Amino acid sequence: MMAIDNAASIRTIGVLGAGTMGTGIAQTAARAGFDVILCDLDRAIVERSVATMDQFLRKAVEKGKLAEADRAAALARVRGTADRADLAGADLVVEAIVERLDAKREAFRALDGLCRPEVILASNTSSISITEIAAATGRPDRVVGMHFFNPVPVMQLVEIVRGHYTSDATVAAVRGLAARLGKETVLCRKDSPGFIVNRILMPMLAEAMRLLEEGVATPEDVDKAVQLGLNHPMGPFTLADFIGLDVDYYVMDYLYSEFRDPRFAPPRVLKELIRAGRLGRKNGRGFYDYGHGPRMC
Ligand code: NAI
Repeated sequence: MMAIDNAASIRTIGVLGAGTMGTGIAQTAARAGFDVILCDLDRAIVERSVATMDQFLRKAVEKGKLAEADRAAALARVRGTADRADLAGADLVVEAIVERLDAKREAFRALDGLCRPEVILASNTSSISITEIAAATGRPDRVVGMHFFNPVPVMQLVEIVRGHYTSDATVAAVRGLAARLGKETVLCRKDSPGFIVNRILMPMLAEAMRLLEEGVATPEDVDKAVQLGLNHPMGPFTLADFIGLDVDYYVMDYLYSEFRDPRFAPPRVLKELIRAGRLGRKNGRGFYDYGHGPRMC
């Protein structure tokens, strides 16, 4: 049996889930020269994902950042499918399906049965325990977190997350793979909720929201303070809107339930905005108004 312990032996990457993240991961892998097998529940979703990639790559060509021949070659490397069995041909699989433990465990159980025993199964989960996902497989040493950031083709970081049984060889292989994808990595040495980035980010967003609740400052001034006083490229309210207020709420609530630490407790204002249908940039209204309807705070 050939061991796929180093990144160099990975040629074909399977991506399970062709939504926002799966599309970005597949596109990044194809541009980096990998063959990609992209799988979702039905063909229409996969076709939409490939069309999104095409659009993104065409824009890169228009801006002179990509040669037309490279665009076509990258797209040609992506094979879309609605049949999970096709992932049997992958040298490594990145899972990017819905953020639900039952769905992830079912998917990993199936992948474990489909993929060659040496194949690494990575999850892009932003909150679920890698150890718990890995327990659905017979290869917990080859299950690992590869937490990409949105939009994947643009964001440089991948957090590598070690589950309880993840082997050193698996960690080394996915770090090498991320480098071949043109990404920087950090290693989360423990399977700890929120990993590194969200553990730091969420209390900051929550504190900004509490400043608003206490009437200390407006969202505009908090954003300006953080941009000009801390040199962040984006203030916390702009970032919270960009991520999506429902997602912010979900992640804070998850961290709070894991740590029972009030730093992570979702502020009331967040719940109020979500109940009012303000989910952030994605639906045009969050802390800020992006052109639809009146402002709430
Ligand atoms: P999404 O909702 O855009 O895409 C999920 C896709 O998975 C959908 O196309 C859905 O049809 C498909 N799917 C659901 N169950 C499936 C199954 N059993 N088999 C195959 N396909 C299935 O979600 P998104 O935003 O791409 O998130 C995916 C994962 O990435 C989640 O675990 C999320 O926590 C994580 N993540 C999301 C980030 C973001 O900013 N959106 C950032 C980092 C991680």
